[in-house]
Amino acid sequence: MIQESNKPHVFNLKSIGSSDLGYITVAEYQNQISFEIKRVYWTYYTPNQVTRGHHAHKVLQQCIFAVSGKIEFELINPNGEKLNFILDSPEKGLYIPKMYWRTIKFSHNAVLLCLASEIYVEDDYIRDFDEFINYKFK
Ligand code: TYD
Repeated sequence: MIQESNKPHVFNLKSIGSSDLGYITVAEYQNQISFEIKRVYWTYYTPNQVTRGHHAHKVLQQCIFAVSGKIEFELINPNGEKLNFILDSPEKGLYIPKMYWRTIKFSHNAVLLCLASEIYVEDDYIRDFDEFINYKFK
């Protein structure tokens, strides 16, 4: 399933395999992923009480997976509307378009895998919530 360009949503991927063999899940450009993948990163060992994120991206689109554990997301759009999502299975993905403020909580065993549409550019980040709400595209 290809993502719409403007709305965050959870999507389901196939698990190929069986319980006695184990599983493979695939995310491929133009099949499950709508954007060209320019960067992959993963986070791990995030302590339970820590909330990460606290930023938005001006351009970046992401597809995020909980390849292990459970990850909870709160997303806020520039109108201040909140959306909540949970990734609790390696066969689910969360598509996050540009311009969503995110806060993210992790179970102790969570590994977050992110497929990103751009290479890392610090200038793409908005790290101040007021600046995010008042952001005007040039
Ligand atoms: P950041 O995206 O700010 O994560 P969080 O908001 O969850 O803390 O990244 C944390 C640090 O890692 C920050 O100093 C930037 C650096 N970083 C890179 O150098 N390259 C990357 O691709 C990413 C995602 C982060």
